[in-house]
Amino acid sequence: MSQKPGSTAGRNAAKPAKILIADDEAAITTGLSAILEDEGYSVDVVEDGQSALDALSAERYGVVLADLKMPKLDGLALLGELQQRAIPTECIIITGQATVDSAVQAMQQGAYDYIEKPLNAEKLNRLKALIPKALDKYHVQQTNRELASKLEGLTHYAELTGQSDSMRSVYQIIDAVAPSTASVLILGESGTGKELVARALHTKSDRAKGPFFALNCAALPKEILENELFGHEKGAFTGSISEKQGAFEMSSGGTIFLDEMAEMPTDIQVKLLRALETKQIRRLGGKKEISVDIRILAATNKNLQKAIADGELREDLYYRLAVVEIDLPPLRERADDIQLLANEFLGRFSQQNGKLITGFDDAAWQWVMSYHWPGNVRELKNAVERAVIMSRGTTIGPADIIPRHLRNGGEMPAALTIPVGATAAEARQQLVLRTFASTSGDAARTGKVLGLSEREVRSELLELLNGTAERSESDDGVPDMQPDRKKEPAPAAKAPAKKPLAKKGR
Ligand SMILES: Nc1ncnc2c1ncn2[C@@H]1O[C@H](COP(=O)(O)OP(=O)(O)OP(=O)(O)O)[C@@H](O)[C@H]1O
Ligand SMILES: [Mg+2]
Repeated sequence: MSQKPGSTAGRNAAKPAKILIADDEAAITTGLSAILEDEGYSVDVVEDGQSALDALSAERYGVVLADLKMPKLDGLALLGELQQRAIPTECIIITGQATVDSAVQAMQQGAYDYIEKPLNAEKLNRLKALIPKALDKYHVQQTNRELASKLEGLTHYAELTGQSDSMRSVYQIIDAVAPSTASVLILGESGTGKELVARALHTKSDRAKGPFFALNCAALPKEILENELFGHEKGAFTGSISEKQGAFEMSSGGTIFLDEMAEMPTDIQVKLLRALETKQIRRLGGKKEISVDIRILAATNKNLQKAIADGELREDLYYRLAVVEIDLPPLRERADDIQLLANEFLGRFSQQNGKLITGFDDAAWQWVMSYHWPGNVRELKNAVERAVIMSRGTTIGPADIIPRHLRNGGEMPAALTIPVGATAAEARQQLVLRTFASTSGDAARTGKVLGLSEREVRSELLELLNGTAERSESDDGVPDMQPDRKKEPAPAAKAPAKKPLAKKGR
């Protein structure tokens, strides 16, 4: 029996929680404390309500057994004081028959339960059964309080920066699921930090010492992706002169992060599902089953319900991967984080560029806080880096931080005018171009907005550069929407870097 309190407390807290008995009847306190000590609990006794309150304020007790009628402060008043002072101890009221009504009232006010005198064998058995339950409740709430207070006020978690409520809930989910092997699906717009969340899940898990292997399913052609995941045997295909381990084997004991997982070809999805279910893989051209110990994390910014409906994503794989889902909100919905991130990036890039920049001026802040950041944290990071490079003073002004195409007159016009007589292909190109400009030259995001692949976006832009764009701007009547990128290298904007997309004053 003496195991019980120890095991309950051992699971939830470093020290077993104590019990306080508050009653002015010596016969009761002596008897009860002997019985409870016999059960393995550590017990203290006080003889009035005020002493009980003093003890409960000074020390942590899991449960207080409080007589309803005792000197100085009765049971009900004691309960009220505990609540007012946010003392988390669970309260079990001991009551005489005449005061059962008050005991019921005490329960309505938050007492855990009540027990009636006389404390005969039956009542004592009930009490013995009640105490571990009350202690469990105390411990669970204690754990929740500790977690909440650990995450409260948190501005950073692993490599993530953020103090908004939504980011703190993300930290809380990571903290809770990281130690398990459950697959986690991370959702969110481009640039919201999905990969950083995946890394945090790895580093906060028991697999942290094992490898973290990230694979972008959209960037790799099918054969290469398959080879990367499962490896191959010697002679599996022309040119495979030696065997090769895939990610599953190489990162056994670690984590595989499948980025853009909705882009995975369906026959690889079948193989992946099998690997997840059996924890075994077969290399390309191989017969041997190889056991692997892997945790899978996946991310996507696609609408998965649509991908499933369109037959692009297997529903069974989705359920396998989405045991837990983490949804990263867009940066524009996390005003609390924008300033924190902007200041942090400013410090980092000033140092990297050897510049002494103390902050953003008011007008720059105003723009930073009001812009809708379609490219999320990635866009903010790039904008601050560019601003640091462009800045000539000790503060960042609006001219440094606002991209050229968004200056003078604010946002891009939202509507696109297609002249009568234009072909559908031309209209499509202009739509791609306009969207490309509105995303600050982010081909991936342009694709997402328009429902095209990044490759299709690039090829439209290239075609525009090589062919139709030879026409003069007055021919097609389309204004220049390409931001001046000579000094503003944006990672995604390779294709139309030089271009003849004619300039027009705005
Ligand atoms: N909360 C954050 N704190 C600090 N840096 C962040 C945060 N979120 C994102 N970043 C930075 O922004 C950039 C984009 O993040 P990440 O690659 O994780 O986004 P993503 O959601 O995976 O985007 P995509 O869908 O385009 O792959 C990275 O440089 C990352 O370091
Ligand atoms: Mg990513």
